[in-house]
Parts: sequence; C-alpha cells; structure tokens
Amino acid sequence: MLNQIDINTIQNLIYIIASVMFIYGIKMLGKEATAVKGNFISALAMFLAVGITVVGVINPLIILGGIALGAIVGSVIAIKVKMTSIPEMVALFNGFGGLATFFIAWSEHNSGIENILQNSLVILTLAIGGITFTGSLIAFGKLSERLKIDKASIITKTFTTIFYAAILYLLASLLVFPLIDISFDYFTILIILVLLAGIGFVLPIGGGDMPVVISLLNSFSGIAAAFAGLLLFNNVLIVAGSLVGASGLILTIIMAKAMNRSISNILFVGYASASKSSSSKEQGEVKPISVADAYLILENASSVLVVPGYGMAVAQAQHTVRELGELLEENGTEVKYGIHPVAGRMPGHMNVLLAEANVPYDVLVEPDDVNPMMDTVDVALVIGANDVVNPSATEEPGSPIYGMPIIEVNNAKTVFVLKRSMSSGFAGVQNPLFFKENTRMLFGDAKESISGLVSEFKD
Ligand code: TAP
Repeated sequence: MLNQIDINTIQNLIYIIASVMFIYGIKMLGKEATAVKGNFISALAMFLAVGITVVGVINPLIILGGIALGAIVGSVIAIKVKMTSIPEMVALFNGFGGLATFFIAWSEHNSGIENILQNSLVILTLAIGGITFTGSLIAFGKLSERLKIDKASIITKTFTTIFYAAILYLLASLLVFPLIDISFDYFTILIILVLLAGIGFVLPIGGGDMPVVISLLNSFSGIAAAFAGLLLFNNVLIVAGSLVGASGLILTIIMAKAMNRSISNILFVGYASASKSSSSKEQGEVKPISVADAYLILENASSVLVVPGYGMAVAQAQHTVRELGELLEENGTEVKYGIHPVAGRMPGHMNVLLAEANVPYDVLVEPDDVNPMMDTVDVALVIGANDVVNPSATEEPGSPIYGMPIIEVNNAKTVFVLKRSMSSGFAGVQNPLFFKENTRMLFGDAKESISGLVSEFKD
C-alpha cells in the first residue's frame, strides 16, 4: 500500500502533467482548427487533476458523487444550449466557480485562522468568489433578458451604494480588522456584503455590455480559484486559476479595445451616455438597390469581401451566406470573409456562426489583413453589420466610436449594405457609409435578400 509521502509525490506529479495539459490546451483554443482538441485536452487535464485529488481522501465516495453529479448536469446543459446562448451558460459556469471558491474560503475560516497572511487570503477568496457568484447571476439574468432593471432606478442605485460600501468594508477587513481586537463578527458582515456587492457591481451595466462583463467575471473566477489554491497549498488550482484569470482579463481588454472603450467606461459609464453626443447631421441621400441589380454586379465581380455582423445572427443567414459564397466561387470570384473581433454580441460570434455553416477557416480574414488591400475588392457585401464598418470611427473625431478599429469597406470599389432599415447599430450612432457614393443599400431581412441572390445565381 502506498504511504502518505508516495501519494503526495504522485499527486504533485499528476498536477504538473495536468498543468502542462492546461497550458497546451488553452494555446490550442487560439485557433479554430485546433480548438476542439484543445478543449478536450483541457477537460482531460481537469479530470486527471480532480481524480488524483480524490486519492487519499477519507471518504472518496462523496467526491466521486460530486464529480458524477456535476458531469451529468454540465453535460445536459452543454448539449441542450443553443449556440447564441453560450455567453449565458458561461455566465452561470463562472458564477458556480465563484461560489465554490467562496465556500472554500468560508470553510477555511471556520477551521481556524492562524496568521494575517492566511486571513488576507481567506478574505480575498471569499470576496472575489462571492462577487463573481452573484454578479454572474445578474449577468445571466440581463443577457437572457429575464432581468430588466433601469440603470437609474432606486433598486440599482441602492445596490450600487452597497457595492461601494462593501469595497470600503473589504479594505477595512484586510487592513484594519486583523490588527485590532474587534468585538463584532466582521466575517459574517463580510459574507453578506460581498454577495450584495456582486449584484451592485453588475446591475448598473447595460445589457449589451454583458459579454465584456462576463469575460471579466470569468477572469475573477480564475483569480478566486488561484487564491483558493494558495489557501489549500494546491498547485494545480493555482496554475488553472491563474490561466483562467489571465486569459479572461486579456479577452476583456481585447474586447474593450476593439470597441474603443476603456474597461472603466464599460463598467461605470456605459455606451448610452457616451453616444448622446453623437452627431445626427444630415448625410445626404441613400441609393437603394434591388436583388436583381445587385446580382448583375456580383456576377461580374472578381473579388468579394463578405462582412457579417449582428444582423446576420438575427436573420440566421449564415447557411444561405455560405451557399452564396460557393456560387460566387463557382462563378470564378474570389470570396473572403472579413471578421471584426466585436462583430455580433459575443466573442467569436461570427466565427461560430460561419463554422456552423461549414465556411472554411482559411477564407476568414481579420481587419488588419484586409484593410490594406481594400481598394482591390470589387464588392464588399456587408450583411447585418453596422458599427464595425462605420467610417466615423476613422473620419469623425467627435464620434463616440472614434478610434475604434473598423473594417474599412468604404474603400472597396462597391459596397452593398444588407439591412432592414436605416436604424443604427449597438452604439446608437449614424453611419455615413450608407450615404457614400459607392454604397448601395439592399433593404430587407438579410436571409431573404441573400436567398434572392442565390436564386438569381441558380436561375
Ligand atoms: P450592430 O452595429 O449592432 O448592427 C447590426 C445591424 O444589423 C443593425 O443596424 C440592424 O439594422 C441589422 N439587422 C438586425 N436584424 C437584421 C436582419 N434580420 N436582417 C438584416 N439586418 C439586420 O452590429 P455589428 O456591426 O456586428 O457591431 C457589433 C456591435 O456590438 C459593436 O458596437 C460592438 O461594440 C457591440 N458589442 C459587441 C460585443 C461582442 S463581444 N461581439 C459585445 C458587446 C457589444 P436594421 O435594424 O436596420 O436591420
């Protein structure tokens, strides 16, 4: 039988293997072609790490039961979830990750605190875990539109005040309470405050900004797990938590940058107030085009750049778009897809939709690659995209989106914009692209318009 030292050595060895697999898996997630494999390797690493932790535990059945229950519930949710609801599911998963670390900190506190460092780790783990838990539940509610509370309402304001009070109390818990002999139970108050603080943190943030907030909460859940790892002297938890914490933060920064907004603007100001200053000056006349006329131009194009946006997701036009792309290629046209990092409403939204429709990865191009050669593109086909192709971002210093990197379709020879009306996109700003000399508006639901083009090609 293995003695305790042997078990610890084997556990640490498996933890190192699992940590390497996490790093390798997360690296593979960076490319569509290897993402599925990367996900599998990371999941296997988690299984190994949890599995080996069970060895040597007094009652392994409880832990194995927990693993089985979690695996069943997680699998059912993941299998049933719709592609467009993935951010909501991620919000819930983050929340439960936060709750787990919250409980770890609570139980460590109950086991007795021995020094100030341990006390600080318990407080930080509890606070970040608790805020992540309730904050994620609110993010889930907002994203799924189950929760609709106005930013200016008294409820939101009350919770926001509690959030700031909780931050002050948290600082006092870290800096003052451990050093003085306090007669009240500051830990119970801390538990209540951090749970309310999560609500106060997310409640005032606009529903549209939830994907960025969820990414930030994902990072928080990782940081809380890393602190819990320090508390429990568990190396794999430290590595896995740090990976999640860092990658979530990087994704948050990428999203904020691609929207040309600071994280503090997203968390504490919101787009609505930023866009109030948006110019609504008269831009000129738009030139509508019919499906039949658009077909004639497309039929003669030698290069087409498809730029999908949120409207393609709304219309669920991705399969029809792929069909049109194939017909264009059969006709001798070079077809590429310009993917903006924040097109749609979730990270990788367009990539996921196009992958679902079996559009090959190698025809997807990023703004930096396609913008320099935009003047060689015969037709830019803008399908339900608006903000991500808005030239105000490069031409109008006063615009709320000024500075946001865009796909510069306005430099293509001809631009077709497929949308239903002249209404604005997420940022709520007018788009001068629609009024440019080389732009034609193909009004209507994106799926219907593309289907019309497909029929023209087939006739
Ligand atoms: P948007 O600027 O939001 O524009 C989408 C356009 O789609 C609308 O102007 C709408 O015009 C059109 N549309 C809606 N339904 C349609 C349908 N059935 N058929 C045809 N058109 C339809 O989209 P975008 O260019 O993809 O930009 C994304 C925006 O969301 C950015 O401002 C970004 O910062 C923000 N955002 C992104 C994320 C992530 S992570 N992707 C997260 C939060 C916020 P009509 O109503 O006239 O049809």
